[in-house]
Amino acid sequence: MPKPKVLLLGGAGFIGFGIASFLAQQRDCDLTIADQFSPGQKDSEFTELVARHNITLIEGDFTDPALFDYLESEYDYVYMLAAVVGVNRCLEHPEEVIRINTALTVNTLAWLRRSRVRRVLFASSSECYAGTTTAFNYPVPTGEDVPLCVEDIRHPRYTYAVTKMLGESAFLNCAVPYGFEATVVRYQNVFGPRMGFKHVIPHLVERFLSASENPFQIYGADQTRAFCYISDAVEGSVRAVESPRAAGKVYHIGATEEVSIETLVRAVGDIMGYRGGYARAPTYPGSVARRCPDISKARAELGYQPKVPWREGLERTVAWYCRFFESGARIPDGGFAAPEGLSYRGAGSA
Ligand SMILES: NC(=O)c1ccc[n+]([C@@H]2O[C@H](COP(=O)([O-])OP(=O)(O)OC[C@H]3O[C@@H](n4cnc5c(N)ncnc54)[C@H](O)[C@@H]3O)[C@@H](O)[C@H]2O)c1
Repeated sequence: MPKPKVLLLGGAGFIGFGIASFLAQQRDCDLTIADQFSPGQKDSEFTELVARHNITLIEGDFTDPALFDYLESEYDYVYMLAAVVGVNRCLEHPEEVIRINTALTVNTLAWLRRSRVRRVLFASSSECYAGTTTAFNYPVPTGEDVPLCVEDIRHPRYTYAVTKMLGESAFLNCAVPYGFEATVVRYQNVFGPRMGFKHVIPHLVERFLSASENPFQIYGADQTRAFCYISDAVEGSVRAVESPRAAGKVYHIGATEEVSIETLVRAVGDIMGYRGGYARAPTYPGSVARRCPDISKARAELGYQPKVPWREGLERTVAWYCRFFESGARIPDGGFAAPEGLSYRGAGSA
């Protein structure tokens, strides 16, 4: 029997690398990673994985439909992870978030229409229902069936969520006419080593290392999130793709322990031996107050069970970023912009 063929579109990214590592070790399959490869992504860990497991690489910007001609016309599983992500990018270049994420969805579907693919996983986000919990007081933890909405269609912050809603609808509704099965996972605050530099945790490590703040500012101290360690997100994704029950369905993949930003910041401070004081500060415009997924559907239908407690995952993540920063390596993607330093385009909030 031939090995299953797996394509990871956007597979050089944080979650893609995690899925590739897992599949390379746990499944006997032919792996292909298609990505535009942002600076720093082809580090020694990545190139070692590719060489050891004979992974095929296809490099290019997949907003160009011609790139899809380099893919094969048959795969068992496709993980559609490619997207522009991050609040900074939405605030600074909403027009690019709309263009790139929409083109990636449209081009992937055009390719799927002429290809033979069994199952596609579309990587969506908790941002799709963030507005719902705020505006309509839906319960937290939040399940998959809540209506999706954004609070202010004019605000650049929400361009990412709008493209994820388009992706969910597009993959789920094109699946039957185009002859593939679609599963949507909404990832929720996934973190871990290699998560990039435009996120809160790496930025906290950088700030604590620089030892330039005392008191240490905590932006959005009372907000809560449920932090999902990368290996748990990977396992949930693979289960969702491989489960016969998951065709046509949406799953929340995340962790269940709600942690305040203040608790997170102080935990990073503790791990890094910070002994100074803390001060509260405002947060991003449009940042949701509480977020925690209800994962009972994924538990019941996929056997998904997050295993790594957030504090344990945090220790591993902080250790990885400390090693990175202390090695003197340059941040490859421009890093994180603190909320008070950001200028953003667009109409602003209502
Ligand atoms: N990490 C999270 O907590 C989280 C939460 C919700 C949703 N998601 C979604 O999961 C997916 C993976 O997220 P991630 O954290 O690994 O992000 P990431 O930025 O690390 O990975 C995305 C990958 O897509 C690639 N890409 C972007 N534009 C491309 C283009 N035009 N052509 C080819 N490749 C392109 C990037 O180079 C990158 O390798 C994304 O779709 C993201 O929206 C992630």
